[in-house]
Amino acid sequence: MTSLKGSHVLSVNQLDLDTLKEIFHVAKQMEPYAKRQKRTKVLEGAILANLFFEASTRTRVSFGTAFNLLGGSVRETVGMATSSLAKGESLFDTARMFASYSDVVAMRHPDSGSVAEFATGSSVPVINGGDGANEHPTQALLDLFTIEKELANNARQIDGMKIAMVGDLKHGRTVHSLSKLLCRYQNIEVTMISPKELAMPDYIIAELDNAGHKVTQTESLVDGLNDADIVYVTRIQEERFASQEEADQYRGQFRINKQIFTNHCQQKAVIMHPLPRDSRPQANELDNDLNEHPSLAVFRQADNGVLVRMALFAMTLGVEKQMSQYECPVNWHTNKA
Ligand code: NCD
Repeated sequence: MTSLKGSHVLSVNQLDLDTLKEIFHVAKQMEPYAKRQKRTKVLEGAILANLFFEASTRTRVSFGTAFNLLGGSVRETVGMATSSLAKGESLFDTARMFASYSDVVAMRHPDSGSVAEFATGSSVPVINGGDGANEHPTQALLDLFTIEKELANNARQIDGMKIAMVGDLKHGRTVHSLSKLLCRYQNIEVTMISPKELAMPDYIIAELDNAGHKVTQTESLVDGLNDADIVYVTRIQEERFASQEEADQYRGQFRINKQIFTNHCQQKAVIMHPLPRDSRPQANELDNDLNEHPSLAVFRQADNGVLVRMALFAMTLGVEKQMSQYECPVNWHTNKA
């Protein structure tokens, strides 16, 4: 197992199976804090720099929430235009400074490799919140944590599962990181459903092949869904296309709704999506008519993001065994289940 204490978390490639298991073990221990059954002040006095140079809702807020739930404080900068990067400052200089202002950094940036470049100037741990079309390691961790939990309800496990990934597999960093993580497991059947032009990059298909998984690529949604245990839907990543028109031609090609689910998916298939789902009528990739369906795991998945990010903060700052020592009661009324 690799210790995360003091380390950057830049790519899923750093995470072996034992490390994944440890992250999930710590994430499970975070549940009572996330549910406000008790509090911990273990990171009181620590500061997270939450730097988001590209659009985000869930990832940014859940990083901040996770840090606050551990008792720490959050300083944030949002958008490129309002930061000194717009004045030509290098990522290295920015990092050098934030390393003195804060104890850990979470960062998202539109360019592949940018977060790793930033990390070269940082003496404090840097966690990649998404670098262009490259990677999104914390999302992959929360996705895998969710898959494990959801499959366990049906007495299944990740080894031997069947997963279908749907949509923009070329630009989707979540499916890139998730596919790489699946290589730590055994005997998985992966069906990649996308237009040919938006297919999963060849090097990732090769990694899955080398891990002994069975990979099928198809342009047919209904064929691909067939016997999947997990259906992982993605958005057309319009911000990565040269023009809006180019992105528009793929919008709405693959739609999952109640009728498609009932007719083409296994009854117990689990529907996932990193969110945001594109709910505009021309896209509507995951229909609202599934909102009350027990198979729709997308909000449970987003909730798990807080647990996994709490675990990563606790482990990179080396306090994962000290949480209960700094416990205190919750003073306010809460309706959280
Ligand atoms: C994803 C992302 O930013 O890559 N969102 C997220 O972090 N939950 C997926 C997307 O934007 O489509």
